[in-house]
Formats: sequence, structure tokens, C-alpha cells
Amino acid sequence: MVENMKKDLKTALKGILSSKEIALVCKSFDIIGDIVVIRVPEQLLPHSKKIAEVLMTQHKHVKAVWRQSGPVHGEFRLRKLEWVAGERKTKTIYKEYGCVFKVDIKDCYFSPRLGFERMRIAKQVKEDEVVVNMFAGVGSYSITIAKHSRASKIYSIDINPIAVRYLRENILLNKAVNRVFPIEGEAKAIVEGMLSETADRVIMPLPEKAHSFLNSAILTAKPQGSWIHYYDFEYARKKENPVEKVKAKITKKLHKQSINFTIPFGRIVRQTGPNWYQIAIDVQL
Ligand SMILES: C[S@@+](CC[C@H](N)C(=O)[O-])C[C@H]1O[C@@H](n2cnc3c(N)ncnc32)[C@H](O)[C@@H]1O
Repeated sequence: MVENMKKDLKTALKGILSSKEIALVCKSFDIIGDIVVIRVPEQLLPHSKKIAEVLMTQHKHVKAVWRQSGPVHGEFRLRKLEWVAGERKTKTIYKEYGCVFKVDIKDCYFSPRLGFERMRIAKQVKEDEVVVNMFAGVGSYSITIAKHSRASKIYSIDINPIAVRYLRENILLNKAVNRVFPIEGEAKAIVEGMLSETADRVIMPLPEKAHSFLNSAILTAKPQGSWIHYYDFEYARKKENPVEKVKAKITKKLHKQSINFTIPFGRIVRQTGPNWYQIAIDVQL
């Protein structure tokens, strides 16, 4: 669940923080099961605990509050977390659209902010499709697809062994055995070694690096009629359109290789910073 409780949290902080301090409080935070992840600006760091305690009073089921102290980082795309209040737990269970995800937020990537996007993809999947998820994490897209479509096989690759361990557990929890197939390894190598021309649909949820994996996505896709769901981060000034910028980038790359394709859809998934956006692009070969 993503909470945007600016007014409530700020109102609840009246009398605890000064009005100047309240104005600095970050308006959004992530609730992942019974854990909350907050961001606290430098000036408010000494007040982190007070903010956390107010949040715990507002959300009675929350048992732990962590502060994200830097951007998602490294090959495994992990959050840097500092404990603020409650239990020091990082393992939790998150529920969304009838799916259950067990996750350790310290060791695996997980974002509650992508629920709409996961369902948007799942709704497009047709009966008997073979899906390759190149960056599956604990299975957030793969399990959503298994639950909400009649895909036959969803190959789910990830390089993080802990994420794959949770993916295996989530497959069992969500009764997706023999439909979601976990593969621990490096996506390029796995695609080249065992999944070429396999997929009716390829999912690429690694926006930091997707561009450098586009050739692998093309390799794993069936040459005709297949879909690639491509994610990227893009910078755009006020008059620029970040979706069009990413479309142009993909178009340039695919034209160079004389690949026939169309881009029927693109959207801003979310804003990730001043002038920075996460973009989703659906490419059809
Ligand atoms: C942004 S996370 C997305 C995870 C999941 N799809 C989700 O949305 O919750 C990207 C994932 O890609 C994995 N990853 C990074 N580089 C990889 C590579 N070269 N091959 C396979 N997996 C990789 C990371 O371990 C991480 O779990």
C-alpha cells in the first residue's frame, strides 16, 4: 500500500514539531505489510522517531518503521535502511490484488507503488502465453500474472539468490507451481543459454539498465507478434515529454538492427524526482 497521508500526518504532528518542521515532512511513505518505510530530510533527522511514532499511532497494524537513507542501489536494487521505531523486523507479508508476497525488504527489492502497473500487464496476457520476466525479484509481476491470467508458463529470472528464495516461497503460497518457473542467474546468460525465441511476452522491470538488456529481450521474444514491456528512467524538462523521449531511444536502437516493431502504448508510471520519471513502454515485434 502506498500512503499519501500528507494532511493527516502533518496534522497529527502539530504540537510535536514546529510548523516550519512540519512543512518539511515528506508527504508519502510506503507501507509494506506491517512495515513502514519513510524518508526524512536531513534537517528532521533528530525527529525521525517522533514522526515514526505518530505513524504507528495512525496505522495500528504497523510493527516497524525504517528510514530509507539513500536511493535504491547496487545490482540487487536494495534500499539502504536505518531502523527508527518499533520492532527491528524487515521480513513481512504484503497482499495486493489477491496475491501474497513474502519479502525481506532488507535483502530484496520490493515496491508497493507498482501495483497498478503489475495489473496493467497481467490484464494483457492471453491464454497459453509464455512469459519471460527477466528481472523477477520476489515475483511481484510473475505471481500477479499467474493469478490474473491464463498464461501457461512464466519464466522468472533473478540474479539475487535471496530474492529467488522468496520467489520460490511465493510460488507455493500463491499456488503457482508449474506455471511460474524460478531461475536464479544473470538474465543475459539465461536467455542466451536456454530461452531464445521463447516468449510471447517479455517483462523488463529494471529501469536503471533496461536499455542495455533490450537485445536480450529481443532474443528471448518470439520473432513475430510478441510483446516487450520495457521500463526506463527519463529526465524531462517542462516542455519535454519523457514518454516520447524513451520511445525515440528504443526506436533508434531497433531501427539500427532493422527490427520491425510498433510502440502502441507508453505511460509515466511515477515521478521519481524533480524532472525524473519512471516510464513504461509496450513494444510489439
Ligand atoms: C527493480 S528490481 C524489480 C524486481 C521485481 N520485478 C519487482 O518489481 O518487484 C530488479 C531486479 O533485477 C535483478 N537483477 C539485476 N540485474 C540482473 C541481471 N543482470 N540478471 C537478472 N536479474 C537481475 C535484481 O536482483 C532485482 O531483483
